[in-house]
This record gives sequence, C-alpha cells and structure tokens, in this order.
Amino acid sequence: MGPRTSTLPRWRALLSLLGLVCVLAAPALAYAELSDTTLQNIPSGADVLNPHTGALLSPILVPRVPGTPGSTAVQHHIADFFARELPLWRLEWQNSTSRTPATGTTDIPFMNLIFTRDPPWTKGNGDVGRLALVAHYDSLYKPEGFIGAMDSAAPCAILMQVARGIDAALTKKWEAMVESDDAGLGLEDDEKDTDSIYGARSLAEKWEAEMYPAQSTYETPLDAINLFVLLDLLGAVDPHVPSYFPTTHWAYKGMANIETRMRKLGLLATKPKNSFLPESHKAAESFRSGGYVGDDHVPFMVRGVPILHVIPTPFPPAWHTMDDDADHLDLASIDDWSKIVTAFAAEWLELDEFMSHVMKQEIRSRSEL
Ligand SMILES: *[C@@H]1O[C@H](CO)[C@@H](O)[C@H](O)[C@H]1NC(C)=O
Repeated sequence: MGPRTSTLPRWRALLSLLGLVCVLAAPALAYAELSDTTLQNIPSGADVLNPHTGALLSPILVPRVPGTPGSTAVQHHIADFFARELPLWRLEWQNSTSRTPATGTTDIPFMNLIFTRDPPWTKGNGDVGRLALVAHYDSLYKPEGFIGAMDSAAPCAILMQVARGIDAALTKKWEAMVESDDAGLGLEDDEKDTDSIYGARSLAEKWEAEMYPAQSTYETPLDAINLFVLLDLLGAVDPHVPSYFPTTHWAYKGMANIETRMRKLGLLATKPKNSFLPESHKAAESFRSGGYVGDDHVPFMVRGVPILHVIPTPFPPAWHTMDDDADHLDLASIDDWSKIVTAFAAEWLELDEFMSHVMKQEIRSRSEL
C-alpha cells in the first residue's frame, strides 16, 4: 500500500480555521459555485507567503518543537497576526500536556490556538455548523534543526492567508444579513490552531465532552463540525492529492472544480502536467477502506467528523529530512494552494457576492512588530 497507509509521526502541532455554514440546508445542497469574478478577486499571497521574505511564512520557518522557544515564538507570530490584522477573530488557547516515547517522564506542553469569528448575533450556542480548516504548527524534534517547511509551516501560513482572504466578506455578509433580518439563520465562522496529534486528541476529547444547551441543533462542538479540512505536506512542487474518503468526495470535487476553473481562467501561477487534485472522477469502488494517511484528523475521524485530507501521495521527497526547508518550497505552489483554499472556504460559506473587495493593506513586516 506504500505511503497511503503510513502513519505520520505524532510529534506535531496544528493550525486550523473553522467556518460555520448555514444550518437550515445541508451543505451539499446549499453548495453553489463562485462566479468567475469572485475567483478573479481571490487575492494572491505571493508577497506574504514567500519562504524567505514573506511576513506570514518566513517567521514560521524555524525549528518549533513543543515546549521550546521556537514553538513559543511561532505561537506569538500567529496570535499577533490575528490580533493585529484580523482583530474580529477571537483566540482561545486549549492547553494540555502529554508524555511522549521520545521524552519519557517529562510532561510536554501541547497548546491549541483556536481562533473563532462568530457572527455578531450568535454566542457559539450550538445552532451553527462549522467548516474547520486545520494544519499543525509544531515541528519534529529530530533530526535536530529540522524545519518542517511543508510539514507544516507552509500550510499554516496558507491558512492565515485564507483567513485574511475571507474576513472582509464575512463582515459584509453578516451586516447584510442583519439588515435584511436574516440573522436568525445562524451563520458563523471560526478558526483554530492546535498542537501535535497529542493536541488534536486533546481538542477532539474536549469538544466531544462539551455539551451545548439542550434544544440546540448540534449536541457538541465536535458534532457541529460539518467538514474538517486538514492541510499537510503542502508547498513542494507538483503535489498529487488523492481523494481519500467516499463520504467527503463531494467536497474534494468542489475543491478540485475550483482548481480546474482557476487554471482555465489563468489565475494560478503553476503549470503542472497534472492537477493538484486529479481524482474528481474517482469511482466509488476505488476507495479502499483503511487506505488513508494517519494524521492529526484521526481523533476527529474516529468520532464521526467528516474529513477532507489535503495531503499529497506520494509524500514529497524532502519529507522528514533536513531538506524540508525554505529552499525546497515552491512559492507558486504555495500561493496557488492559498487561492484554491480561500475560494473553497468562500464557496462553502456562501460569500460569493461579498468577495469583491481588493486586499488592501500590506502586512507589516516582522521587523516592524
Ligand atoms: C495556555 O498557554 C498559553 C501560553 O503559555 C497561555 O498564554 C494561555 O493563557 C494558556 N491558556 C490557558 C487556558 O491555560
């Protein structure tokens, strides 16, 4: 089976975004394509996602093992970015400790950073379904000095860029809903950042245990996640991302369709021989049970959360080597992923008519912070 059944090491950390969808219609039915104009308005992140100079990505390209100063610095980088650029997103920490085989009896801290943006009229009361966009932010403890540029610094920066890309449209949409008195529909958006799969497990347990008030549409925060999109090992050239699960193949097709349309419109920088997401036409019988990559989504998947795992198979050659660094990232691929995922989130959250904004501000460089 090769890498399809391999298990990624458990010494990892997550960054995720959650977005809520309308609860009155099943997402599959509500799913309407973005217009060409909206696709054309999806911002490029080529400046901020540059591995060497980009204000979002370059500060993450340091060793960031849980419990070390590098990890703390990256947490602050992410938290400061939201506080400064996206102040309407609320940050919640979910901290836990775990012992790992590599560290024996020492308790290692795992911290999930959860950024939530709720519509003004909701209080996270269990009546809104959520789209979770997730990546891990910590890095392997060995080889010493390991950077983990695609694993998963680049996916984290992509998610930060996605949050920037949909933020203004969320505001406009909710303002319009309040004005038209549709607010009772309950739309919400949320974002999360967590630690390794230790962190992921701890978070899944917490969300499973936390009960919403009786009468809510959803029983628990876990139950409210309509789709959990995990980005991993992205940022190298020529990714081949299969569709892993029949239950979320429709969402895979939605993302693949966005890629195809953006390529036709000339909006993507890469010109690969094959699409990043080439399995839209995968037949139902071609999904093998158990044929998935073990990763941070597993604690959520075993609790019944639908998963869209955006991870290439085969893994890029630099995987788990010292070569997984800034020099082995491909800016065009990273930026294309940021556009594809931004469009996917906008489509899911039904932001089409509110996406016509142009990204205004340059993100201030790190030296100005
Ligand atoms: C979790 O840890 C972070 C970093 O040390 C700290 O800032 C935060 O207040 C902690 N949160 C909780 C809920 O303990």
